[in-house]
Amino acid sequence: MKENIIINGDCIEKLKDLDEKSVDLIFADPPYWMRTGGILKRVEGTDFDGCHDAWDRFSSLEDYEEFTRLWLTACRRVLKDNGSIWVIGGMQCIYTIGAAMQDTGFWLINDVIWHKKNPTPNFMGTRLANSHETLIWAARSKSSAYTFNYKTGKELNHDTVNDEEFRNGVRKQMGSVWRIAVCNGSERLKDQKGDKVHSTQKPLDLLERIIAISSKPGDLVLDPFAGTMTTGVAAKKLGRNYIMIERDKGYCSYGKDRLDATDFCDTPIARAEYDKKPPKVTVQEMIKNGVLMAGEDFYLKKGGPVATLRSDGKLEYKGTVMDMHSCAAVARGSRAERLNGFDFWFVLRDGKLRPIADIREEYRKTIY
Ligand SMILES: C[S@@+](CC[C@H](N)C(=O)[O-])C[C@H]1O[C@@H](n2cnc3c(N)ncnc32)[C@H](O)[C@@H]1O
Repeated sequence: MKENIIINGDCIEKLKDLDEKSVDLIFADPPYWMRTGGILKRVEGTDFDGCHDAWDRFSSLEDYEEFTRLWLTACRRVLKDNGSIWVIGGMQCIYTIGAAMQDTGFWLINDVIWHKKNPTPNFMGTRLANSHETLIWAARSKSSAYTFNYKTGKELNHDTVNDEEFRNGVRKQMGSVWRIAVCNGSERLKDQKGDKVHSTQKPLDLLERIIAISSKPGDLVLDPFAGTMTTGVAAKKLGRNYIMIERDKGYCSYGKDRLDATDFCDTPIARAEYDKKPPKVTVQEMIKNGVLMAGEDFYLKKGGPVATLRSDGKLEYKGTVMDMHSCAAVARGSRAERLNGFDFWFVLRDGKLRPIADIREEYRKTIY
């Protein structure tokens, strides 16, 4: 299947041409069905260029529900078993979408509030200003082992860690309220007359965050409502592949130029370096390579019970043979069946007790 392409057409039709279970991550920013009923006026009388485009018109709630169910089903068909989907929307549509996602078989992981740092005001002062949109993140099914780059999320979390704390090394879990500015300034695509190309272009920061935390380098990212191709640009910058579907030829053309002008940015975030798991090392391998010795004694930290290491990597403790994790639990009198033996066992080196975890770390450094 071709990757790194823009497909011009209706996504419900075009998704039929993609292979089943071929996509790792989907981001969808579907029509909101804003129901603004014509041009909104600012207080001083000028037009507000919100979203009243032809692509956002539906005849009834049933019509919008049917459309939502069809594109979600088409997306789910192409999503890998361990894939996940993000859908963004405002209060007009997100409840319909959330219900349809569950009906279609998706398994909700999180809902996220995108708190806009610079929202459009409610010009008439008749209700609260809409200062957020909601994102729903869902896995293909309950049993999906979806990607979540937890530590990358910590590196990107500037919502609950301020700049000074961040510089001083403070890192906190990423939460579900994200403070990101709406797309403005030089990032906003303009036509030759200087008008906005698209009424709902999303900020690149939002898409980069989503792709960085929920996909792996080289993964395939799909956007069925690609607009100005913000998703494709974020994917390309982060070293992911993309398929962008968009019905409007003009948006495709602006989006293509945008993608052509984008390069891969090689950073630890793009490489998902913070979430790389260290290679697995077994006790047997450590014995084979002479960093642990069969027949030597294993101690608990405070000189507690001694077990003996066997050549098969197991421990003998008070006449019973066990793996070192079960043995750690027994020797510590824990209620758990197993404890991480690397954290609990020590060996004697140069007359001092050294944790097995340290010995393993030193060994890892010699092989990678
Ligand atoms: C909310 S906008 C997406 C904006 C995009 N996220 C961006 O940053 O530019 C929705 C887009 O979906 C497109 N669209 C609407 N219905 C479609 C359909 N059935 N198939 C493909 N694209 C569609 C519209 O032309 C519009 O550009």
